[in-house]
Parts: sequence; C-alpha cells; structure tokens
Amino acid sequence: MSQKLYAPFTFSDLSLQNRIALAPMTRARSGAERVPNALMAEYYSQRSSAGLVITEATTVSAQGNGWDESPGIYTDAMTEGWKLTTEAVHAKGGSVFLQLWHTGRASHSDFHAGELPVSASAIKIKGDQIHTPKGKKDYEIPRALETAELPGVVADYRAAAVRAKEAGFDGVEVHSANGYLLNQFLESKTNHRNDEYGGSIENRTRLLIEVVTAVCEVFPANRVAVRLSPNGVFNDMGSPDYREQYTHAATELDKFGLAYLHVMDGLAFGFHELGDSMTLLEFRKIYKNPLMGNCGYDKEAAESAIAGGAADMIAIGRPYISTPDLPERWAAGIELNPDIDGSHWYTPAGAEGYTVLPTVEKVGL
Ligand SMILES: Cc1cc2nc3c(=O)[nH]c(=O)nc-3n(C[C@H](O)[C@H](O)[C@H](O)COP(=O)(O)O)c2cc1C
Repeated sequence: MSQKLYAPFTFSDLSLQNRIALAPMTRARSGAERVPNALMAEYYSQRSSAGLVITEATTVSAQGNGWDESPGIYTDAMTEGWKLTTEAVHAKGGSVFLQLWHTGRASHSDFHAGELPVSASAIKIKGDQIHTPKGKKDYEIPRALETAELPGVVADYRAAAVRAKEAGFDGVEVHSANGYLLNQFLESKTNHRNDEYGGSIENRTRLLIEVVTAVCEVFPANRVAVRLSPNGVFNDMGSPDYREQYTHAATELDKFGLAYLHVMDGLAFGFHELGDSMTLLEFRKIYKNPLMGNCGYDKEAAESAIAGGAADMIAIGRPYISTPDLPERWAAGIELNPDIDGSHWYTPAGAEGYTVLPTVEKVGL
C-alpha cells in the first residue's frame, strides 16, 4: 500500500483520512424540483471513504440552471435536502465539500421560462446540442450580463455558501472550470467585454476573485476551493492565451490561502491542443497552497503525483462511479468494477447504475 496516497492530509482543522477525493460529478437524480434526496445521500455515503467527497455541481440560483434534474442550493427545501448527504458522509467519518455552479451559456431558454441564458458575452457554444426539459435543442446565443447585474451574481454565490454552511458542508468548491459561467468570464474566447470584467487578463479574472472573496466571508478561506480546467475543451472552451490566463488566476488565488486549488491537469476529459498542456508541476511553481490534480488518474499515476510532490490530493471521477469502495480496493490491490455504461451517468431513472452496482465485501483501510 502506498503510504503517501493513504497518508492523512490536514488543512487547518480539517483532517482527511487519505489523499483521494471523489471528483465532482453531475448525476441528475434530484428531480424537477432540484431538491437533494435520500438516494443521493446514500450514493455519497457509499463513497465516504474518500479523503474528501466533492459533490456534483450544484446551482447557486435559478439563473444558474442548465442541466435537467441537477441539484440546487438556493431554497430552504434544497438546504434541508443536502443535510441528508452531509449527515450521511459525516456519520461514516468522511468530509464533504459542495461544488457551487452557475452554468452561464451552457444552458437554454427552456430552463428559464423562455428567457435567454446569460454569459460574459453574447457568444454561443458551437457544436453539440443541449438536453433541456423539452428535449434536445441547439444552443442559443446567450445574453451578456450587464455590469450592474454582476454584484447580484456574486451575492448568489455568497447566499449559496451561507446555505451550504447551514446544510453542514465542511467547505465549498467554486466551479470555475469546464466552460461554465466563471470559466466563460475567465477565457478570452468567451469574454469579449469592454467593462472592468473583460479586456485584460486581470479584468477577466475579476468575477472569479469577487466570488471567492464573497464565499470566503462565509467559510474561512481554508474551507474554500476553486476548480480550474486550463487544458479543457468541454463546452467549446480553449483560448490562445490560456497559459497566461491560468497562471495569473492561480497566482491571485494563492493569496487567499484556500483549502486547495483543483486543477484538471490530465487530458482524459478533453484537450484544446492550443499548445503544451499545463501541468501540476507548472502550477506548483506559482501556487504554494494545497493542489489537487484530476483527469485520467489510476492508482499508480495518483501515487506518483503525490509521491513526486506534484499534488497533495488526486480527484477520481469515472472509476468512482462504478466502484464506491475505490480507496479500499486500491489499498488492498483489488480490481475495480468495470466502468458502467455512460447511459447511467445522468439518468434520472434512480438507483440503477448509481447506488446499485456490483461490489465486493468492503475490505477497510
Ligand atoms: C458523469 C460525469 C459528470 C461530471 N460532472 C461534473 C461536475 O458536476 N462538476 C465538475 O467540475 N466536473 C464534472 N465532471 C468531470 C469530472 O469531475 C472529472 O473531471 C472527469 O471525469 C475526469 O476525471 P476522471 O478521468 O477521473 O473521470 C463530470 C464527469 C462525468 C464523467
């Protein structure tokens, strides 16, 4: 067994049982009302032997919605619903962060009673269609948010953090990756604004910094994380100045003393191919606080990233869908379950392919 992968990891007063995180993964089991439920609590509880459980992306406002049956954290019922998950994970000695989400242009007017989705600029996603409550549709040209609306967006993140705290989460991860709203502000491809939120690398980072500042007024900074996808192409992202943009963002974020910066360094979730990919070691040079890596890691790659000092933690996504006791199996050298069919990833059908999976007797760490 690797001592490094299973060494406890502590930031501030939060002591994690190992260096493996459950990567945030949308599973769309929250129903039309987007209220977290007992089935979701069971799913997270099954995976609570991760050092850190990171929940699926959870919208901070109705405006942030863009995925059918994904959960929210902007009503009392949602806050109450999430308590089932935090209580279940804590009962097993786990720790859990809520991922805060605004989909921005990766949405559709079908989610917003006919109103266009919003973004940094009126630039639409090219390519794929989007699943809406009324079926598959072409993406639309979003409406660029007015400068005067941005304090409201920041306030939504702050209010969501307040609710996350009330629901018992140990912290929150601000989703600024994979082409969602904060990523749309960050990148030059999607941000053509002329106000103080666009034009320069510093300006494009402004909304993210304001959101992180607001969330850090609710949780201490060492209970707040940020996720970035410097190499990503998902949702039609990838900008020529990616290296300068993400170097600047990481440098600014380092000043907060966050719980961790979650960098999707691996290329297994897509790569824009605009130059060399950004690596964890590159981030290490500019980012001194804890770093989490992700994308395409198996046990050996995770061990070597941690042992070699590139990362403090590694998040595991797809393998964790099919193998809820992944940390125990890696520790004991037991094979993982085969990957489940992607048709079960998001289905609102319920337990099948979600909590009901082939498994072996738990082996314990
Ligand atoms: C079904 C599914 C849902 C996902 N949902 C989210 C999400 O809600 N938030 C997020 O930041 N990334 C999301 N991702 C990306 C994963 O967190 C992770 O970055 C990706 O799967 C690569 O890691 P892996 O190679 O270990 O699977 C999702 C990926 C999958 C497969």
